[in-house]
Amino acid sequence: MNYSIKNICCIGAGYVGGPTMAMMAYKCPNLIFNVVDINKERVAAWNAKDLSKLPIFEPGLKEIIASSRNKNLFFSSEIKEAIKSADVVFISVNTPTKTKGVGAGKSSDLKWVEACAREVAKYSKGHTIVVEKSTLPVRTAEVIQKILNSPKTNFNGEKISFSVLSNPEFLAEGTAINDLENPDRVLIGGEDQKAMFKLAEIYKAWVPEDKILFTNIWSSELAKLTSNAFLAQRISSINSISAICEVTGADIREVSRAIGKDSRIGSKFLDSGPGFGGSCFKKDILNLVYLAEYFGLKEVAKFWEEVVNINTWNQSRIAKIVVKKLFGTISDKKIVILGFAFKANTNDTRESAAIKICRDLIEEGAELVIHDPKVSQIQIENDLKIKPLSNDYDKNSDSRDNNIGSWRFSNSLDIFENANAVLVLTEWQEYKDIPWDLIAKQMIKPAWLFDSRSIVDYKLVKKTDLNFWRLGDGSQEEQKEKY
Ligand code: NAD
Ligand code: UGA
Repeated sequence: MNYSIKNICCIGAGYVGGPTMAMMAYKCPNLIFNVVDINKERVAAWNAKDLSKLPIFEPGLKEIIASSRNKNLFFSSEIKEAIKSADVVFISVNTPTKTKGVGAGKSSDLKWVEACAREVAKYSKGHTIVVEKSTLPVRTAEVIQKILNSPKTNFNGEKISFSVLSNPEFLAEGTAINDLENPDRVLIGGEDQKAMFKLAEIYKAWVPEDKILFTNIWSSELAKLTSNAFLAQRISSINSISAICEVTGADIREVSRAIGKDSRIGSKFLDSGPGFGGSCFKKDILNLVYLAEYFGLKEVAKFWEEVVNINTWNQSRIAKIVVKKLFGTISDKKIVILGFAFKANTNDTRESAAIKICRDLIEEGAELVIHDPKVSQIQIENDLKIKPLSNDYDKNSDSRDNNIGSWRFSNSLDIFENANAVLVLTEWQEYKDIPWDLIAKQMIKPAWLFDSRSIVDYKLVKKTDLNFWRLGDGSQEEQKEKY
């Protein structure tokens, strides 16, 4: 078997494939990386001369793309050609929750992974290491192996063989470049030790050896799901305590600090917020729930499902609090929404808490003005599935039913004039520096500022006549209404 590695193909140029291959290409200048995708628009954006037009916003990404692109890192839709020349193929395509058929609403839809495996079986040459980079249900490697091994020869009648490995990705959006450069661990699961060591050699270019873990393939697949489930469970736990703080006079920031000092608990992932978003936490937990149900482990399934249920409940309670504080009706009231991305430093809105919260507020009749420094109007429209009003819209000539709310987009922060309330949903740095003493003067009184991310400078807000609510803060002083 020839295990020498020179050419690498990655199928899928998304939030994982793009940055991961860019980091590898940057660290391994002697290897060639072909990142291929069926989405031609996305490929064109990866090739954009103007690096601010890359399809993904991620701090530090532009710089590493600039150093490797078109040297040893290539983005294209030449999938067959990339597979033909590859010694290693990473599968990094999307694996969303199934919407139809068996396992709908819980199990992952593997049709894109299967399609990749079929393409690899058809076009690969000699021996190829196939790496699961996508997050996959336990035992998917078996399915991939079966598809790969079914033809025995490629399109040209040449003999082919494969080693299938699991190498899940643990990067978080917004910190992807740092996570890739300094990973807590690199996990490689498989049976073929030679192939596992070969894959490890790529990482050894920059990752210390003691951080590269080898496991059996099923442990690797399950460890990825478990890691996300544990992280999401911490957020659901802290958000549930946050609600208790609000009614008991405790403050979630103080509780988090106190429990985080326990070295067994640790201080990370204890920030209470509007509920976890992102494309993976919910999907991966539901996947685990499906797996448990499939094997008859009903109690296990119920335990993990509750992590998702609490998160949905937490998102819906934010909109309810806004309505309650604004005298039970927000019809015709202007509410400024600060942030639509599911977290700061990314343009990704998948499963963002802002989607449900904004929809709920619009349904209650509010007039939202939504700002986000990196998310586009069209993306917000796709997520809300409601058309925006244009910015020169004239309220007086509007003949619509008054009970239906609306939204419009703004890419500037000059939006507070005559607002009844402001709701902070994403922890962007620029929202931390807002001069609330000046903004308060522009708003309609009694005006409210709702902070679901604990980023507002509340000492400054206290000096204004704004009413202030922040998540998980039951301390009387902060919650006291000024009118
Ligand atoms: P994504 O949707 O951003 O990207 C997937 C890409 O694959 C898309 O551009 C799509 O066009 C392409 N694709 C689909 N089928 C294809 C095919 N047959 N041939 C060529 N291209 C194809 O998804 P993502 O966020 O990069 O996630 C990919 C996987 O990585 C998922 O399994 C996810 O769970 C996992 N993951 C994601 C993150 C994250 O932060 N987003 C982190 C760790 C793991
Ligand atoms: C998460 C994991 O952190 C990654 O390790 C994993 O690779 C990735 O999922 C994946 O498999 O897709 P990501 O979703 O990009 O990464 O971002 P996180 O930082 O985990 O944040 C997820 C959500 O939790 C965000 O909405 C964030 O605002 C929220 N969060 C996070 C909190 O509300 N509080 C916290 O303390 C931390």
